[in-house]
Amino acid sequence: MGSDPRLVKHPIGVFDSGIGGLSVLRALRAELPFEDFVYVADSGHAPYGERDDAHVIERSRAITRHLLTQHHIKALVIACNTATAVAIHLLRAEHPTLPIIGVEPALKPAVAHSQTRRIGVMTTRGTLGSAKFRTLVESLAGQADFVCQPCDGLADAIEHEDTTKIIALCAYYTGAMGQFGIKNGQIDTLVLGCTHYPFASEHLTKLVGPDVQLIDNGEPVARQTRRRLQTLAPTGTPGQCVLLTTGEREAVQRAAQRWLALDCPVELLLV
Ligand code: DGL
Repeated sequence: MGSDPRLVKHPIGVFDSGIGGLSVLRALRAELPFEDFVYVADSGHAPYGERDDAHVIERSRAITRHLLTQHHIKALVIACNTATAVAIHLLRAEHPTLPIIGVEPALKPAVAHSQTRRIGVMTTRGTLGSAKFRTLVESLAGQADFVCQPCDGLADAIEHEDTTKIIALCAYYTGAMGQFGIKNGQIDTLVLGCTHYPFASEHLTKLVGPDVQLIDNGEPVARQTRRRLQTLAPTGTPGQCVLLTTGEREAVQRAAQRWLALDCPVELLLV
């Protein structure tokens, strides 16, 4: 006999090309402490940001299908700017009853914060070249100057915990963007437009200085997810997390421990 569906606690699915989406999962767990989450790190098929759209779309579809059929998720958070940019409209059309929340570079919060009206934006090449990103920038025309920088290799270096490379790439890319600071003409706000980049915040702050505000979208996405949920988990029992990866399990386990103080085994996913 099957269990009463009204009593089953359905988890929220979350995915990214790798460990980057853990920065969003951290915000989700803080906002929704009683919800269960199933997180997929698609590290075996990363990086998304330097691959063609067809690859990202195919991976997004396969992961969504798996989360729906095997985990019966009640909502999906695409914790990846690149996958959101190229696949969210397709996933929404294919799963019209599933609440799907995406993440996009935090340009609007950056406009609200910036005094110099000069805003740096670090993203993957895939996000930067997408129609969705272009529309976002155009919607804010005249409100600020955006200095957009594709950051090839940075998500991958973060994924592989290669600190030397992370520091070198952050130095190179911030150097290419121009002067940071709070004086006229300087970049006073830096958007981390890839969910991996918050894990390089410490290095970025050293490079751009403490006056420059780094902005990501983890917390707004978590609040938006709460608003979109049709049913909330009952309060009382803390939510559980299941972590899955198509890549190296130990790397995801280490990242979850380091960034979320989350100690749970990581299962290998073959999709
Ligand atoms: N973390 C992803 C994003 O927000 C992509 C990183 C990658 O795989 O290139 O875009």
